[in-house]
Amino acid sequence: MNNAEIEKAEIELVLQAIKARYGWNFIHYKRSSLHRSIRRIISKYNIEHISDLITMIMWNEEFMNTLLCDLSIPVSDMFRDPDFFSVLRYDVIPVLKTYPFIKIWHAGCASGEEVYSLAILLAEENLYDRSRIYATDINNNALEKAREGIFPMSKFSSYENNYRHSGGKEKLLNYFISKYDAIIINANLKKNIFFFDHNLSSDQSFAEMNLILCRNVIIYFDQTLQKKVINLFDESLCYGGFLCLGMKESIDFLKASRDLYLWKKKEKIYRKGIPDVQGEKHDFTIQQT
Ligand SMILES: C[S@@+](CC[C@H](N)C(=O)[O-])C[C@H]1O[C@@H](n2cnc3c(N)ncnc32)[C@H](O)[C@@H]1O
Repeated sequence: MNNAEIEKAEIELVLQAIKARYGWNFIHYKRSSLHRSIRRIISKYNIEHISDLITMIMWNEEFMNTLLCDLSIPVSDMFRDPDFFSVLRYDVIPVLKTYPFIKIWHAGCASGEEVYSLAILLAEENLYDRSRIYATDINNNALEKAREGIFPMSKFSSYENNYRHSGGKEKLLNYFISKYDAIIINANLKKNIFFFDHNLSSDQSFAEMNLILCRNVIIYFDQTLQKKVINLFDESLCYGGFLCLGMKESIDFLKASRDLYLWKKKEKIYRKGIPDVQGEKHDFTIQQT
């Protein structure tokens, strides 16, 4: 075995250790990004060999929490991909407005920037009071930050820029209280958001969702896990419900589907049961793994 092969084998052992000790299954995550994260971690903690992580994973729960933060890549942004939020505002929201009550699942919500962007959009479109947002992630530290809704003031101008480009018409600061070097989301935008721990690789589906956002999450999964997760979303959506993936995420390899149609190609929005004019059908007949 050369060094690269040894490292490859060590990574598999680390993933087995995490699964055995904590039940988190990273086995179906893409090796390229896992490898990068693990390399970063061993250099951050001055660890010589990847396999030295195994003892720490087994015996040091606190270290595992830190490791989970590094492995799960909980980075997010307000109104990330403004073009996507613009399509959400001008194409998806008018459809949702026709329903008496709207159920939204925001999967892989990280520290909440995207969830609060959606809450602001719903409030501006007079839909917030009729909406329930279930925001989930595997990373409890990120969920805790999301619940707090406190973000650095240093990022505000970039948030505002995205908001403007997405079609925002108000002053973004109206939705926050600024305190020292932080901005805190208004409490009334939190009241219909429920944050909780949910693992896409092992937990159950939800029922009758009108909208699911899972952006920049499945890009880290291999095709087996991607198929499983898309199946979970398919089960969780009501007829006519929307599924929004990240703009760089492709599930074209799944081919024509039982029920999901590509609805907006560039923004990677799919719709259950109802094709758009240029809609394409994708096959998500998934083999369970
Ligand atoms: C790059 S962030 C994306 C955040 C946000 N959706 C966005 O696009 O700005 C990926 C998130 O997916 C979460 N994640 C990774 N694996 C997951 C899983 N199996 N179940 C639920 N969430 C997961 C991570 O913890 C992380 O917070």
